[in-house]
Amino acid sequence: MASQLLDKREVRIRRMFSQIAPWYDLLNHLLSLNIDKHWRERTARLVPPGPVELGPILDLCTGTGDLALTYQRTTQGRIPIIAADFSHEMLVRAVKKSQSAGASSHIHFVEADAQALPFPDNTFQLVTMAFGLRNVTDMDRGLRETVRVTRPGGRVAILEFSRPRNAVLGRLYQWYFRSLLPLIGQLISRSPENAYRYLPESVLHFPDYEALVERMQAAGLDQVQYEPFTFGIATLYVGVKPERSATAPSAPPPTHA
Ligand SMILES: C[S@@+](CC[C@H](N)C(=O)[O-])C[C@H]1O[C@@H](n2cnc3c(N)ncnc32)[C@H](O)[C@@H]1O
Repeated sequence: MASQLLDKREVRIRRMFSQIAPWYDLLNHLLSLNIDKHWRERTARLVPPGPVELGPILDLCTGTGDLALTYQRTTQGRIPIIAADFSHEMLVRAVKKSQSAGASSHIHFVEADAQALPFPDNTFQLVTMAFGLRNVTDMDRGLRETVRVTRPGGRVAILEFSRPRNAVLGRLYQWYFRSLLPLIGQLISRSPENAYRYLPESVLHFPDYEALVERMQAAGLDQVQYEPFTFGIATLYVGVKPERSATAPSAPPPTHA
């Protein structure tokens, strides 16, 4: 059952998020008691972008666009933002929200897979991803792509669920996450792909804290640090792309005599 639930093939993940798109925001805020908003705001506060000359911001796995919109608000539209996701249905909602917020001229939405991004090397001053990396089929490939498109000296900020380290809280969290949350989530969304049973399983099997730091370092990031939010229910990881590591242009094709 767990392995079926944890099926992370692109086609399944895309279908699952597309199916729950109409319920996604409501359930996010309900199941987290609105704390998710506070986590995104804290991320934007802790990792503010630099001057516009350093390049745009990229928000990957943007879903309905909440982190992109948070950055748009906190930067007052000063920095152009590209927001990408591979679920068309999620992006449709993101575009509507951005229009209602009067942000459409600042945020450009792109349908793209985080493992093969349609952007040149060394482009963005800041690449963010909230609750996305855990769902990317090949997480290491996704991380390498993220680093490739970040400019040297630029930052990568990843916000993800993690497991509280306090034993008592950990047990309470597991009970909520494994029993109550799937019940409410499935009842409201009626997700045919069991999205709200997949959620706790994917978090419990996802590397957190030092383990994720190591994966980010292996992808080419330096100075990786993390900050747990709300007793470690979510954690923000931030790394810097080294100045010397400007991604080399692809090698020319071999010439044949
Ligand atoms: C849990 S939602 C997070 C949405 C948003 N970032 C937030 O903070 O609410 C995960 C999103 O990642 C997207 N996603 C998963 N794998 C992806 C991939 N390989 N490429 C692009 N988007 C992906 C899904 O379509 C979904 O919209």
